Amino acid sequence: MTVPPQHSGQAWWTRAVVYQVYPRSFADSDGDGIGDLGGILQRIDHLADLGVDVLWLSPIYASPQADNGYDISDYQAIDPLFGTLEQLDELIGALHARGMKLLMDLVVNHTSDEHPWFAESRSSPTSAKRDWYWWRPPRPGLAAGEPGAEPTNWQSFFSGTTWELDDASGEYYLHLFDRKQPDLNWENPEVRQAVHAMMRWWLDRGVDGFRMDVINMISKDVAPDGHLHDGPPIPGTSLGDGSASYLCGPRIHEFLAEMHREVFAGRDGTFLTVGEMPGVTVEQARLFTDPARAEVDMVFQFEHVGLDHGTSKWDLKPLRMRDLKASFGRWQAGLAETGWNSLYWDNHDQPRAVSRFGDDSPRYRRDSATCLATLLHLHRGTPYVYQGEEIGMANFPFTSLDQFRDVESLNHHVQAVSAGADPVEVLTALRAMSRDNARTPVQWDASPHAGFTTGTPWLPVNPDSAEWNAAAQREDPTSVLAHYRRLIALRHSSDVVALGDLTMLLPDHDEVYAFTRRMGEDELLVVCNLSRTTYRLADLLPEAPAAELVLGNLPDDDPAELRPWEARVLRLS
Ligand code: NOJ
Repeated sequence: MTVPPQHSGQAWWTRAVVYQVYPRSFADSDGDGIGDLGGILQRIDHLADLGVDVLWLSPIYASPQADNGYDISDYQAIDPLFGTLEQLDELIGALHARGMKLLMDLVVNHTSDEHPWFAESRSSPTSAKRDWYWWRPPRPGLAAGEPGAEPTNWQSFFSGTTWELDDASGEYYLHLFDRKQPDLNWENPEVRQAVHAMMRWWLDRGVDGFRMDVINMISKDVAPDGHLHDGPPIPGTSLGDGSASYLCGPRIHEFLAEMHREVFAGRDGTFLTVGEMPGVTVEQARLFTDPARAEVDMVFQFEHVGLDHGTSKWDLKPLRMRDLKASFGRWQAGLAETGWNSLYWDNHDQPRAVSRFGDDSPRYRRDSATCLATLLHLHRGTPYVYQGEEIGMANFPFTSLDQFRDVESLNHHVQAVSAGADPVEVLTALRAMSRDNARTPVQWDASPHAGFTTGTPWLPVNPDSAEWNAAAQREDPTSVLAHYRRLIALRHSSDVVALGDLTMLLPDHDEVYAFTRRMGEDELLVVCNLSRTTYRLADLLPEAPAAELVLGNLPDDDPAELRPWEARVLRLS
């Protein structure tokens, strides 16, 4: 399909590349084994050298760390694990001095159960903040604590029910994630006002925008009498899928438009907002990102990272290339005239792309990492680079359960094994899909603990760090790091890369992913071989062998052949 270019609204972020830092695993400055703001400050030139425009910082707020900071107990304080507010101010200044912006993580679907708002809410059914969260009595006819007495049958993202019983009041509270992450009730205007005030406080401090955690879950489908609806049963469990009640609920557009009005409208500056939206469709995303509606600038969608899931993320199946092309093609076309895409393979919730979609064998690791990067960065949208992706970091060779730290992974293990699953098979699934794959420390150099810490790292460093590290790649023009640098520079310098239209080619080919980008007379052909097969380029795309090479990931020795994991960006006109 052909996607017409966007003619208007070419905001600064249409040319930007964002880099995500997961602070716990980035760089540790004080030797406690946990990354911190001091570490980010020490490594900031790595980002400047890469050429990225924006740093998205995963949560550094005060938190009991039940979900590594996605459980916040004070939105306006820095957790001492990570440093101080002064260091955050220093980071803002250091980024701005280098022409970069700072995106904070905004986690407001839920708080920690240790947030004072929740403590007050829990203190009594008559508390002034009782209605700031979702408190509900047991299901009619059942007593609190009885099996099945939960107010709805919803399954939590982190296994088990979404309801936790509070013994003192005999009522349950809702938590779509861990029981230590109670959901805020956005129906209550006081909640919304408190969140808006907190966001303004951060903007006043100099931050440049927010990545909004599961923001399409803030509106729940609640009946006028306060009733929440059961979801369809999930086979093999006693629970149901409640997503129809909380994904893109009835008031989501109203809440986001109000947030934009209350926080950003009329404020001087250039900001960026990106909403993380599991389950969002292209049609919904077009509404969320339509500049005329003023809700968010772009969303994270999950379609492409669900293509290798079976009945759940733990039930892995191979990715089919035609599904990937169909999915990306639909998102490119759907947001061509209105809205904007964000582009990602990796983040702190996904296993490493080079292991998942590439080929992390010693022979093809570098080539497949650079091939995947080329494919993604040549689409239209804002690319996101997750820490370590730019040096080809791979999944960790987990061999036992005690190596995992992630609450989602550990809960899944308990639940699956108690439901009768074979522990060996559960471990195999965790090894491939656990979020801890993304969370092992960044590999800076070949020294012990990869230069991440002088102490004991909170999660083991990947044993491949002596070979795969940033220092080894920094001066090497053939490295993964050098290739990322070139891709980022290309987006900055090329109108057709930033804004050109996209036409998907070879939709049914099982191994080669190809498309064109065009703007006026300028046309690029992008061809990526996601396999170990060698192809004659002319058999695939007759116009390709004679075209001028703009950027490739392998030494340019035979223009007629497309070698295993080779990616080429060619100029057709
Ligand atoms: C999405 C975040 O990316 C993930 O890390 C977190 O566990 C959940 N939201 C809950 O906040």
